[in-house]
Amino acid sequence: VDCFVALLLAMTRALGQFRRNLLLGSDVMRRCLPPFSILVAICISFCAAAADAPPGALSCSGCHPARKWVDTQVSRLAGRDLGAIVQPMRQFKTGQLDGTVMVRIAKGFSDDEISAIAAWYAAQKE
Ligand code: HEC
Repeated sequence: VDCFVALLLAMTRALGQFRRNLLLGSDVMRRCLPPFSILVAICISFCAAAADAPPGALSCSGCHPARKWVDTQVSRLAGRDLGAIVQPMRQFKTGQLDGTVMVRIAKGFSDDEISAIAAWYAAQKE
């Protein structure tokens, strides 16, 4: 929430600057706008990721790509059905499903934690 307030403040301030620049001349405006848009984009993506991620959820994206254009063998979790995350995680835990790293990772999470992580990823649209 703090993050969004800061973003809002920055935007309001930048808008004031923006209007002043319009009066001063479009040259200054043209130079200010690109860095500002980049800043906003970074801030928005950071806020969205950090907002309400349940414990452990952000650790998955070290291997499971957060963006769909990342070319990797490891599947994406974002936007996937809740059950399609919960079920393999439970199976990794019980040993029903074999794997290189997931068996160990899944054992580190309780069923509640797995459900929370799965719900968080399932809610992501992209
Ligand atoms: C160290 C890298 C790594 C991390 C961290 C990681 N995974 Fe995985 N994950 C894999 C690999 C590799 C596989 C393929 C199975 C295997 O070899 O263990 C996989 C498979 C899976 C699968 C089943 C694959 C599928 O496409 O159906 C699920 C679900 C899954 N991971 C969920 C998670 C969740 C949730 C987290 C975070 C708590 C996580 N993973 C963290 C590497 C990782």
